[in-house]
Amino acid sequence: MAQYPPIMKDKPVFLHGGDYNPEQWINQKDTIWKKDMELAVKAGINTLSVGIFSWAMLEPREGEFHFEWLDEVMDMLAANGIKAVLATPSGARPAWMAEKYPEVLRARDDGRREFFNARHNHCLTSPVYREKVRRINTLLAERYKDHPALGMWHISNEYGGECHCDLCQEKFREWLKERYGTIDNLNDSWWNTFWSHRYTSFDQIHSPSHLGERGSHGLNLAWRRFTTQQFCDFYAWEIEPLKCITPDIPCTTNLMHTTRGINYFELGRLLDRSSWDNYPSWTNDERDAQVAAHSAFCHDLMRGVCGNKPFMLMESSPSSVNWQPINRLHAPGILMLQGLQAVAHGSDTVQYFQFRKGRGSSEKFHGAVVSHDNSDQNRIYKEICQVGDTLAHLTDVLGAGTENKIALIFDWENCWALEDAQFGSNINKGYEKAIDGHYNGFVRAGYGVDVIDETCEIEKYRIVCGPMTYMLRPGFADKVKAFVEKGGTYISTYISGWVDEEDLCFMGGFPGPLREVMGIWDEELDTYDETQHNHFTWNGKTYEISDFCALVHAESASVLAELQEHFYRGYPALTENAYGKGKAYYIAGRTGEDFLKDFSAAVAKEAGLKPLVENLPYGVLCTQRVGDRGDFLFVMNTVPYENAVTIPACMDVRSGSDVFGKVILKPYEVLTLKRK
Ligand code: GLA
Ligand code: ZN
Repeated sequence: MAQYPPIMKDKPVFLHGGDYNPEQWINQKDTIWKKDMELAVKAGINTLSVGIFSWAMLEPREGEFHFEWLDEVMDMLAANGIKAVLATPSGARPAWMAEKYPEVLRARDDGRREFFNARHNHCLTSPVYREKVRRINTLLAERYKDHPALGMWHISNEYGGECHCDLCQEKFREWLKERYGTIDNLNDSWWNTFWSHRYTSFDQIHSPSHLGERGSHGLNLAWRRFTTQQFCDFYAWEIEPLKCITPDIPCTTNLMHTTRGINYFELGRLLDRSSWDNYPSWTNDERDAQVAAHSAFCHDLMRGVCGNKPFMLMESSPSSVNWQPINRLHAPGILMLQGLQAVAHGSDTVQYFQFRKGRGSSEKFHGAVVSHDNSDQNRIYKEICQVGDTLAHLTDVLGAGTENKIALIFDWENCWALEDAQFGSNINKGYEKAIDGHYNGFVRAGYGVDVIDETCEIEKYRIVCGPMTYMLRPGFADKVKAFVEKGGTYISTYISGWVDEEDLCFMGGFPGPLREVMGIWDEELDTYDETQHNHFTWNGKTYEISDFCALVHAESASVLAELQEHFYRGYPALTENAYGKGKAYYIAGRTGEDFLKDFSAAVAKEAGLKPLVENLPYGVLCTQRVGDRGDFLFVMNTVPYENAVTIPACMDVRSGSDVFGKVILKPYEVLTLKRK
């Protein structure tokens, strides 16, 4: 059982709030700011994120600082019982800085410097930018260190992208020297004899570029690892003065689910809590079952990158966003589902982008708590009030942890290498599709899942599932062996154990170092177009294989099902290897969710696990949080029609009434229950 302290220690309730840009209304503060507070308080909003893009208002000219307006905002928040998630402004910088110090601007992969534009685009190395950030962060911390509104630091905004300027090239080369020691070691690690690519000096190396080298997988992988390191280093640089001046104020930066640029398991280790921005493309029809399941996975991943502590839903849209190809409204109930789903997966906050819609520029039509009608009369605002009211009644859940016994591996480094590799299908390797399939298999069978990467500890789990672990990172195979030996269940699939951490193929047959524990040799891989399939029959039911199908030989493993088509008919489709006290399963091809649900249910049962709720109908998901104040079960209907579920003996947290047996869930309804 894990009970965590509240994120802001003097605010022991669910945080409800959003991104707030009062400086955009500085000329109407007497009316607009006043209205903001009235509408925030009425909606049960107790936190607002301020200062995210405020640099030009805080330092309008170099060295000329204007904190008066922010003082007023902070005082106003405190007077209304609202905590500030105060941002460092590095996500966007003023025009004067770009004009005077062009080095703060990013360079593209052809070396061309960008003009002043948009946001999220500073050079990560520039000493000038680092100095400017250090100065303003320090001033913010000194000024607000004792302010009663200060609750948390929001570092920058959605770190991402990369810079290819000369300063970054130099830093990259230093990083390479540190990692590889000698140029020949680098050449060997990257297989540079290929196409006569051996370097004789680190100075010859340039970041991947469309004018230069993009086909060297070793280089590509190194650049991504380096970029992650740059962001970690930048984050550490940003928080140093904050940690020194305000050691008790937690820090976070808002992440973006499975976005490829940064290995969040690395960055996540530096955060006090993880926080993330969730914008599901709700469809308002039965496909919301898929949308919700993907969101569920993202929540578990974002919780996982910071060691499964309660996290923050830092941004979500109160209604339609403005940047999807088609921007649908949130049908009644979706807003509540979206917020409570985060809570169900371990979030201690429900926050929105944005509190108030601006009058101009590109986000004026993005969903907000307060719309252009400037009133409490619209549907969305009323639903937000309901979310605020509901959260206020769920305080017992606050800080409760998770106790999932199943772990699914999503690994950024593996993903980078796999997506870069040329074989089989070069249209889409479908790593995320495979992960989603296995995730859905477990959750639709009623189990909670932790999402981890290959560097995480796995001992505490009963089942670990590693789909498409193309790259085996150092120590991972040994960890799996020890885990299975001691009685764990490991599930592996096609395209696993092909390369080591430098993207060099394992010799001696795939799945490389996993061959012994899996008890199979994976000899060849066939790839199908969308009209081609294979089939197999398991436990009396026939299932389809699409996309990829491996030609596998059972060694010590026993064959549970055989392929039925093509020249490799009769080869294993599914194998099971008894190893020590545990078992290892190999799934030879990409199966659908029907199989993955049946298989996950069978394997979990075999491993002695019980589903949170039995026989979940399609479209209903459930999770559990466990803390000092009880075991909390969340049952979520994620579709716009009713569903019947059978609930174990529970109490409804909000009403206190008993819930047991058959219950009809209304469209998008969420039950928050406490187990008896
Ligand atoms: C991101 C950003 C916000 C805003 C929203 C719009 O998450 O962090 O500033 O642009 O997208 O959906
Ligand atoms: Zn740079």
